[in-house]
Amino acid sequence: MAIGFCQSDQTIILDNAYASLDQRLGGTLQDVIQEADFQGKTGTSLIVRLAPHSPIRKLMLIGLGEADQLDGEILRRTAAAVARSARREKVNTLALHFPQWQSPSQTTQAIAEGVYLGLHQDHRFKSDPEAAKLAEYPQTVQLMGMEHQITSLNQADIISRGVILARELVNAPANIVSSLTLAETAQNLAATYGMGLKILDEADCRDLGMGAFLGVAQASDIPPKFIHLTYRPSTPACKKIAIIGKGLTFDSGGLNIKGAGSGIEMMKTDMSGAAAVFGAAQAIAQLHPKVEVHFIVAATENMISGNALHPGDILTASNGKTIEVNNTDAEGRLTLADALVYAEKLSVDAIVDLATLTGACIVALGETIAGIWSNDEALASQLTNAAATAGEKLWAMPLEEKYFDGLKSIVADMKNTGPRPGGAITAALFLKQFIDSTPWAHLDVAGPVWTDKEDGYNNPGGTGFAVRTLVQWVLDRSLDQA
Ligand code: BES
Ligand code: MN
Ligand code: ZN
Repeated sequence: MAIGFCQSDQTIILDNAYASLDQRLGGTLQDVIQEADFQGKTGTSLIVRLAPHSPIRKLMLIGLGEADQLDGEILRRTAAAVARSARREKVNTLALHFPQWQSPSQTTQAIAEGVYLGLHQDHRFKSDPEAAKLAEYPQTVQLMGMEHQITSLNQADIISRGVILARELVNAPANIVSSLTLAETAQNLAATYGMGLKILDEADCRDLGMGAFLGVAQASDIPPKFIHLTYRPSTPACKKIAIIGKGLTFDSGGLNIKGAGSGIEMMKTDMSGAAAVFGAAQAIAQLHPKVEVHFIVAATENMISGNALHPGDILTASNGKTIEVNNTDAEGRLTLADALVYAEKLSVDAIVDLATLTGACIVALGETIAGIWSNDEALASQLTNAAATAGEKLWAMPLEEKYFDGLKSIVADMKNTGPRPGGAITAALFLKQFIDSTPWAHLDVAGPVWTDKEDGYNNPGGTGFAVRTLVQWVLDRSLDQA
């Protein structure tokens, strides 16, 4: 089944009107600020209705806090809040003027991302057309004083659409988005943006010895797809990298089935890593960095049937290592094992994987912070810096070798599941067994890929987490020496 994606209805216009705004208002702005003793504290605002004949109907002042504390994330979150309030009030044209952060281009990008992401709502599965009605507002958003920032506005548009693709892939349930849909999404991206695409079916995976991935897939009625999408720059690449996303379109737990209260009904989100990979791919292909990027997703679902993995089964991954599956619900790491081995064979300079891997990571870091594990300090700091620029939160976690003891198996090279304490760490240590020497980072994104409530520029549902970090990281690599 093909799936459509919502496009943003808003047009953002860059203009130079701000200089004359104060004059046009005949000093009203200053008066109002003084009269109300408006201090600009974070979270405060002031709304003024102007004379009926005024071309500006309403003026809103928003406190951004201390000037030296201003950053891109404050701009994004504030722009989203203002755009949403304009929507609620059915404003047609919203003009925004913000102080600058770092440079006009970074300011423009942050504000535009806030507007696009804050206003995006996913109405695809609602039957009531009224729900989509408000989406028209505001029709136009003007960024005042930013008339030269076309490139940054364009970049924000491209990146936000990537985030929205990821959000909508995550929101769609498992009866809509399957391994086949993910393969189709990759086909569309390859055709639209001129990327290379290889899709391996079950037999191809068998030939490559991907016993871990295929073990997870074996109880599903839907065939597994191993997806490898490639962006190649037109000029020689400075770097060659691989980005892998966990692509479980549903995780029932398998025979270690998820019980009541486990959140099994949310396990459509177990392909959020894959969604971020495709969102980033869509943006990267339009931004043309001088980096060769391999996007890899081992797509399947974790189901039960007469052909399901038995707890205790031993699988052989494509690097020859054997795994005792002591828990069929630790399936993500099995699919990633073969994807990591595949990525390393491409002789890339770095591998990053993103996965909704463990509930333990949510317990450790909460719902808005992702954990990062890496065998390479330089790579870890590149990603942490990119995340800081993008306003996404990563926290460095340890690859504590001693904890691998918890994965020791009597019968195989390792078990797939360790004891409960440190569950996110043993998951990362398991993945490490499938990396030989390439710089590698693992992001456990189980917490931040979904939100139940409005939060900054995120709306309830999939957040598209990690798309912006990945795009920023790749753009930064474009500046590296070859
Ligand atoms: N997809 C889950 C992890 C998850 C849990 C993501 C909750 C988002 C919210 C993963 O496959 C899983 O089931 N992990 C188990 C591992 C355990 C069996 C070692 C977990 O975290 O409980
Ligand atoms: Mn699981
Ligand atoms: Zn899972």
